[in-house]
Amino acid sequence: SSAAEGEAAFTTVTDGVLTMGTNATFPPYEFMDENNEVAGIDAEIAGAIAEKLGLKLEITDMAFDSLISAVQGGAIDVALAGMTVDPERAEAVNFSDSYATGVQVVIVPEGSAIASIEDLSGKMIGVQSGTTGDIYCTVDYGQDFVKQFDNGALAVQALLNGQVDCVVIDNEPAKAFVAANESLSILDTEYAVEDYAAAISKE
Ligand code: ARG
Repeated sequence: SSAAEGEAAFTTVTDGVLTMGTNATFPPYEFMDENNEVAGIDAEIAGAIAEKLGLKLEITDMAFDSLISAVQGGAIDVALAGMTVDPERAEAVNFSDSYATGVQVVIVPEGSAIASIEDLSGKMIGVQSGTTGDIYCTVDYGQDFVKQFDNGALAVQALLNGQVDCVVIDNEPAKAFVAANESLSILDTEYAVEDYAAAISKE
């Protein structure tokens, strides 16, 4: 643990280091760059915070649905992962002020029967496991109609293969996935609007 002189006392998991956890499958917030290092908006925010605190930044890439318990269990100092502020998560961690707005959108293939949110009922929906898209779709359409994947790219792959009818995911990674696949598009209607924040330990 460490406390910078003349500043509020704080401790970190490793002395002199800000340990950020993320799930680097979420462009432009976090992705692996050509050197196989985590890059993106969240990594840059963490870099600025570390610099301000006089700490070295270390980034740990992990499953998205492990981040809350990693914060809670003291394995990382902060989760920065395009993470949505949600009341259940807020019982386990503290959220910072929000730094961005996220929108859950629906990706469909060419010729899809899904034209708006009203058409989702009874369709097979691909999501990233443990995300708010997963949580909302499970509540709204039932577990049997939600197929969970380790990351958004795998959900999109399943959509291209016809294993799911659509993918519900945050708008910014959705744009990146659709830009890379001509046959996919994003519905105009938004499924949910949410706030992104950093998650830190309650202590
Ligand atoms: N905003 C959504 C959530 O909080 C998805 C975030 C996924 N982030 C990621 N780095 N894979 O559940």
